[in-house]
Amino acid sequence: MVRLLQKVKAKIYHFLYGPKRYRYLFEAILTLRARRIMEIGTWNGRRAEKMIVAAKQHRAASEIEYYGFDLFEQMTPEINRGELSKTPPTQAEVAARLQKTGAHVHLFEGFTHDTLPQVVGHLPKMDFIFIDGGHSLETIANDWQYAQELVDDQTVVIFDDYYFDRSDLGAKTMIEKIDPKKYQVEILPIRDRFKKEWGILSINFVRVTRRGS
Ligand SMILES: C[S@@+](CC[C@H](N)C(=O)[O-])C[C@H]1O[C@@H](n2cnc3c(N)ncnc32)[C@H](O)[C@@H]1O
Repeated sequence: MVRLLQKVKAKIYHFLYGPKRYRYLFEAILTLRARRIMEIGTWNGRRAEKMIVAAKQHRAASEIEYYGFDLFEQMTPEINRGELSKTPPTQAEVAARLQKTGAHVHLFEGFTHDTLPQVVGHLPKMDFIFIDGGHSLETIANDWQYAQELVDDQTVVIFDDYYFDRSDLGAKTMIEKIDPKKYQVEILPIRDRFKKEWGILSINFVRVTRRGS
């Protein structure tokens, strides 16, 4: 009983004080009436599930395509440390969760420096891309390099992990290198803050769209 109460309390606390920036994902998907969604860093698939539910507001499930990239079973403690990441469940578990949505789900397992170059030439342009995989500078640069091949003038890209006060990890270094003549870059105003042992980690989302030619 005490445990149950603690769980309910944690849920309420998360609802009231949990990360707020995620609402931008759903706003973008609804505004775009997105059909093709790509997520780099699918993790447990819960965010993907919510993004598909948002897309279903405007489209039949059978029209929606989800493309998810993750290490899944290939994640190791060492990679996890280098990517400042999270440990994902198995690909089969995530696939089972996402298949229930009725959308067409495509999951790609492995390091994105291997998987993205292999598949990107075979994928369609995306309506919405969420970049939230590894947090090392190299991985984020790689993920953006290949994501750009799937962007057209309608695509919205959202980067997670713009760490306001840190350039050694996360998206900030990459974002500062994006050519403003080619892309419109907007640091979205909601900032979530997390207490870490070394101080406060402040995180924004960044929205990137291609400038029309
Ligand atoms: C922060 S979690 C993603 C969270 C998810 N997007 C969400 O909103 O719930 C990061 C995920 O990226 C994956 N990942 C980390 N580094 C990666 C890499 N180099 N290549 C592929 N996946 C990676 C991890 O396995 C982890 O599941």
